[in-house]
Formats: sequence, C-alpha cells, structure tokens
Amino acid sequence: GKSGYDHYMHKEIHEQPESLRRTTQGRVNTLTGAVDFEEFDEDLFAGVTQVHLVAMGTSYHAAMYAASLLAARGVPAYAFMAGEYSLMRPPVTDSTLVVAVSQSGETADTLDAIRRARSAGARTLAVTNVVASSLTRECDDSLLIRAGPEIGVAATKTFSSQVTALMLLCERVVADVTGTPSAESRDLLESISRLPGDIQAVLDTSTALEVAQAYAGSEAYFFIGRGVAHSVALEGALKFKEISYEHAEGFAASELKHGPLALVTEHTPVFVIFTGRDDEMTLNNAKEVQARGAPVIAITSHTDGDIVDLADHVLTVPETHPDLAGVAANVQLQLVAYHAANQLGRSIDKPRNLAKCVTVE
Ligand code: F6R
Repeated sequence: GKSGYDHYMHKEIHEQPESLRRTTQGRVNTLTGAVDFEEFDEDLFAGVTQVHLVAMGTSYHAAMYAASLLAARGVPAYAFMAGEYSLMRPPVTDSTLVVAVSQSGETADTLDAIRRARSAGARTLAVTNVVASSLTRECDDSLLIRAGPEIGVAATKTFSSQVTALMLLCERVVADVTGTPSAESRDLLESISRLPGDIQAVLDTSTALEVAQAYAGSEAYFFIGRGVAHSVALEGALKFKEISYEHAEGFAASELKHGPLALVTEHTPVFVIFTGRDDEMTLNNAKEVQARGAPVIAITSHTDGDIVDLADHVLTVPETHPDLAGVAANVQLQLVAYHAANQLGRSIDKPRNLAKCVTVE
C-alpha cells in the first residue's frame, strides 16, 4: 500500500534514503577507496577501451550522468538513446563495454540496442532493478540497483539508485582500466556513504511545495545545469512534464544562448542547478535569464553569497562531492514536479498516455 501517502510517487520519493542504502550495501570500502561488486566476473572490464551506455527516458538521464563522470576520469564514454543506437551499425569492438540501463529490464528499445551490440562483438552489462528481467538474460552480466519495487509510472527512487550504482561502476571501471582508483574515488565513496542522510535532510526541509505554489500557472518551466547537472536538468524537466502536463524543458546551461533564451520571459521560471563545480559560469547563465525577467530558482548547497542573493527562490541541498550533487538536487526537482502536479489534480501515479514499461519500439 501507500503507507499513508496519497500517491506511490510521493512514497517512493521518500523511500530514497532507504533504497540508496540498499544500492550501496556491501559494495563500498571507504577506507581503501575500492568498490566491491559481488555480481560479476572481473574480466568484464579488463582492457576496456570505451564504454557506451544505452537507455531511454529517465534511465537515459542516469546514463548521461555516468558517461560524464567516466569521461572526466579519462575513460571514453558515451550515452546513447537506445532507440537511436539501434538505428546505427553498432560502433563497437570487442573492447567496448556496452552498459544497458533500464529500471524494468524490459524496454524494447534498450533490449534491441543490446542485442545488436552483442552480435557486433561488444561485452554487455545490464544495470537494472529487476532480477531475471529480459535484459539480465540478454547481457553477459548484471548489476542490480536494488531500489525495490517502483509502482508510480514516473521513475524516482530508481533514478537515484541508478546514478549511485553507476557511480560505483565508474570507479570500478576506472580502477580496472587504469590500474589505479581515480583521484576522486576515496572522497566520492565517502560522500556516497553520506548520501542517504543528505537525501533525508532534503526530504525533511524541502520548500518545494512553496516553489510549486509560487509558480503555478506559468507558461513553461525550464531547467538548466552543466556537467552532471545537465542530465539532472533534463530529468527535472521530464518529471515535471510527464506528471503535470505542463510544458517543461531542460537544457545544458551552455546551450541557452544558442536558441532557448528566445523562449525566456517573466512567465517562464528557470530552475538552475548548481553542483559546486563551475558555479561561476552557471551563475552567469542565471543572470542572463533573470535579465529577461525570468524568476530564478536555484538548487544549491550555498546558504548565502552570490547565488542566494540572485535567486528568487532557493532549494537547498547538503554540501557534498560535486560529482554527487546532482542526486540530491534531483530529489528537490522530483518534489517540485510532484507538488505542481498535485495542485493541478493530475493522475500522478498513472499519467495519461504513459506506461511503466514500454515493450514496443
Ligand atoms: C520517466 C520514465 C520513463 C522510463 C523509460 C525507460 O519517469 O519512467 O522515461 O525511464 O521508459 O524505462 P526503463 O528504465 O524501465 O528501461
């Protein structure tokens, strides 16, 4: 049941401290900076020269998040929408690791992409929430995200568990491929161990309801961020549009000037995600939209200073490693989407036209 919550989505948002604990349980050694996965063969990563992540929807955003982390650590990594990947001749060799990210493990586009990559000689790994799903049968190996069952059509707790599991995977791949843990490994794993508490703090203190109320009836809702926050901007917009039915779009902060800025007015609130990395540049983007009259909602760990001074609203997240900051920021955006949709009386757990599991291409 919904354990006192009006909607499964709201319940599942609140389950994240617990689901994230399960995701990392027994997999992290904060003392050595090592990641221990019990599930698969160590050879899976030996000599990997390139990583492709294939996925759809929210899982694609988690894949983008991970690709940006791997690439920053010197492992060539690319995220592809599985439905597009399937259209190309798989650009793989036997040293390509293709990681399929799928909550259900049954998404047709993702299964098709993995079949093609496999027959072209790639190694394949499923990152999924569902034991014995089709995807786990089609891939060489599987990494379970252990988020627990998700009933709401909108993916929430599974996104944070996907990102966290993929982060552990990234650290492991980097250690195996380069022979040494990344320079960030120890700090990052330590921050990951604090993540459930950080998310709890967001859930306990969020002012997302006020923000949703303040901007109800806007023409459109925009979300911007750079680096890992680009994927969170896309995810924030996807969640918002799919359950509120309002127009929402996410952009890379760097993309604004190249077109989207033409849409920005006083009727289009802009959610600006700060991670603690390159914040100066992102603050400039916030100034640009504010100069067009748009309200700025900053998602940041800062409680004073330039970002807070500029913003019309602040959604606060605990300070953490910049690579991880997107996860707590995303929880704030889940809450904003939820409250916005709830005010509009939407069918939150079963949005119109959507299915939890898309088994046709
Ligand atoms: C959005 C959402 C969808 C799924 C997508 C992929 O909230 O739930 O975008 O993320 O259909 O599904 P999986 O992860 O099961 O492959």
